[in-house]
Amino acid sequence: MMDLIKIRKVEKHSEMKPTLLNLIDAEKGFKWSNGDHDTDVKYNVSKTDWEQRPSNYVDFYLTHIKEYFEEYDFVNCSQGRVHNVWFHQYHKNDFHGWHVHGGCQFASVYYLELPNKKFATQFYDYNKYEVINVDVEEGDLVIFPSFIPHQSPKVLDDGRKTVISANYSFEELKKFYYEFDL
Ligand SMILES: [Fe+2]
Repeated sequence: MMDLIKIRKVEKHSEMKPTLLNLIDAEKGFKWSNGDHDTDVKYNVSKTDWEQRPSNYVDFYLTHIKEYFEEYDFVNCSQGRVHNVWFHQYHKNDFHGWHVHGGCQFASVYYLELPNKKFATQFYDYNKYEVINVDVEEGDLVIFPSFIPHQSPKVLDDGRKTVISANYSFEELKKFYYEFDL
């Protein structure tokens, strides 16, 4: 299952980072926590815009990142659909427990700030009953089928982790994948 998790280096990361952080800083956002509620998924995130109106940073982000959403493994799409984009900013003791993303084919996580790789996304291999750590660093974009369980482990130091996530689907494939001589 691990080969379904794709890691891409975003080439323009260092150019994009200050602009995206400024735009996210300007966002009001809110603290997102299940608090005392005994929910299946537990979460405590200091600042997010989850399920808010589309924000200024989204256009900028998608303009720079869309090309990465058009290919996955050996398949390219000629038409894709981004369902939603949101950011999470994690401070000490923040986390987002095990979950999947519904209503889409792929989920993605872009590490806008990742001062400590120990607190990167973890995946769960439900065939082997194992937690999988992926080797990512700031500036990486992880793309994976949205049904793979994953979590953001609790941040235990004073570094701030900022990710931009997106859900998307392929709607049409590029023709050359299915036009061949038999
Ligand atoms: Fe997620």
